Amino acid sequence: MDSKINKADAELQKLISEKRIKDDDDKKVASEVFDDKTLKTLYKLANQNYLDILNGAISTGKEANVLKGIKDDGSIIAVKIYRITTSDFKKMHYYIDGDPRFNVKSTNKRQLIKAWVNKEYRNLNRLYENGVNVPKPIVALDNVLLLEFIGNDQGEPAKTARYDPPEDPTDFYERLLLEMDRFINKSNLIHGDLSTFNIMNFNQNPVIIDVSQSVVRDHPIAKELLLRDIKNISTEFNKLGVQTSESKIKDYLNLKI
Ligand SMILES: Nc1ncnc2c1ncn2[C@@H]1O[C@H](COP(=O)(O)OP(=O)(O)OP(=O)(O)O)[C@@H](O)[C@H]1O
Ligand SMILES: [Mg+2]
Repeated sequence: MDSKINKADAELQKLISEKRIKDDDDKKVASEVFDDKTLKTLYKLANQNYLDILNGAISTGKEANVLKGIKDDGSIIAVKIYRITTSDFKKMHYYIDGDPRFNVKSTNKRQLIKAWVNKEYRNLNRLYENGVNVPKPIVALDNVLLLEFIGNDQGEPAKTARYDPPEDPTDFYERLLLEMDRFINKSNLIHGDLSTFNIMNFNQNPVIIDVSQSVVRDHPIAKELLLRDIKNISTEFNKLGVQTSESKIKDYLNLKI
């Protein structure tokens, strides 16, 4: 590789790890998960004033890391970074192929992740505009997605309903049904991985997250995903003591499947 590029990357890495990434834990995360290209992407976002400092990991998942970002006005945003090395490309193809909004013939991993992140951005945008309680998307660039931070003013992120079960499960479930109705019937999307792992409990209100795999309703796998989502919600909320069933959910959502 061109030594000039190498040198620039090294400087960039230094800049970001020393000045823009705050504590030692984050530096560890940064050096372990961010390759030079990702650092460059973060640097670009910083230069475009979308982000000033990375401050704290919220979650380290199988394929993505979610971190807290701080803007220069002090406001907090969520920074979701897909790792190139551990992404499941087979899965990505499974959900992207057949979606008329994306034409990904390429087998290039970066291209595929870029399309995947873009898909999450576009899905969030469509949901947000249709009034679904989702984090408002800010911008997508390569493998990085910036979105509204769901948490309190002290910077503590809300937890998912899995780890912070609702105080009144029936009330929470009824609110969730309203969100599902807007998601499915108004936005014409199917989540595809709906469970309490991907529903945050924000002051006892459901906020739906993680929509990269969500597909349009006429996608060839939409029905299969919808049935699975309904099954998950029915099972999980039953366990929390809510009187529900798959057919009750289908009736509420007016689904003839
Ligand atoms: N906008 C947000 N504000 C605050 N916390 C968030 C936000 N988005 C995600 N999180 C936190 O990060 C976690 C992971 O996010 P998400 O579900 O979108 O990623 P993921 O695709 O499941 O990652 P992986 O599959 O690699 O584990 C969530 O469970 C939640 O705790
Ligand atoms: Mg998730």
